[in-house]
Amino acid sequence: PNPVELRHFIDLKDLSGETLRLILDVARRWKTARRGWPKGMPDMPALLSGHTLAMIFEKSSTRTRVSFEVAMQQLGGQSLVLTGDNMQLGRGETVGDTARVMGRYVDAIMIRAYAHDSVVELARDSGVPVINALTDRSHPCQLMADIMTFEEHRGPIRGRTLAWVGDGNNVATSLIEAAVRFGFSLRLGCPDGYKPDAEAVAWAIAQGGDVMVTDDPVEAVKGVAAVLTDTFVSMGDSRTGGRMKALAPYQVNAHLMANAAPDALFLHCLPAHRGEEVTADVIDGPASVVWDEAENRLHVQKAILAWCLGKF
Ligand code: CP
Ligand code: NVA
Repeated sequence: PNPVELRHFIDLKDLSGETLRLILDVARRWKTARRGWPKGMPDMPALLSGHTLAMIFEKSSTRTRVSFEVAMQQLGGQSLVLTGDNMQLGRGETVGDTARVMGRYVDAIMIRAYAHDSVVELARDSGVPVINALTDRSHPCQLMADIMTFEEHRGPIRGRTLAWVGDGNNVATSLIEAAVRFGFSLRLGCPDGYKPDAEAVAWAIAQGGDVMVTDDPVEAVKGVAAVLTDTFVSMGDSRTGGRMKALAPYQVNAHLMANAAPDALFLHCLPAHRGEEVTADVIDGPASVVWDEAENRLHVQKAILAWCLGKF
């Protein structure tokens, strides 16, 4: 296939708001249609029958791995789980060479990588659609599930205001891109040294997005419809070097949530660390929609896979 025609899913900013909205609409329809459908039965129709997805993991995963694997199964296709360590990649074979070989065997590749450039290189050389399943830069699949979850509970996200509090990490970068593509306002409360990616913020503002960064977590969450956070220590980060001390005042607890709208939701991509970025009363309390959020990874990824493979 012509590489320019390939449908990669690498960053939300690379895709139009219409495409992203279409993917969410399909995910919602499939989730509804599947209610009551027995586990272990492929969806009707088995859209990806005969298709194989290779999943490469350089880092750990629970949700992403299981949801993509089950997604392929429910769509009638197959998946292979590969770890960077057990591949020749771990012994120095280049990403480009790996990509050229993999593209001869499989129909699509999902990759969780340390370096974002590895995903870009894979997409350039594999000749098949590539899905970013988290890098040091971004986590676009997660944000699709987050938007789906918000809208299930609160209706259209366009025009609403959300807050991110804590480490301005890879998930925050995808949230910034989501704010532009889905048309919501975003306030990020992060300390110095842990501010969100400056390029992503500049891009959002240049696109006319309403994205504001502050040091003050209370200012960030004032009246917002949802508060999002994530671990203070992402994969590849170290707990030492002042990180925990700098981020401690950005914990999402009942006091902070009291500044958000009275019906504000709490979202977290998981895994969570109770007592660090969030208290147990918040994540296990009535504002939290984290289990729906985790479930929606499955539904949204089915739609992402089908879109990448040209099924709609
Ligand atoms: N949220 C998320 O991506 O979880 P995993 O690291 O378990 O895949
Ligand atoms: N920011 C976290 C997300 C894990 C799903 C990390 O990169 O480890």
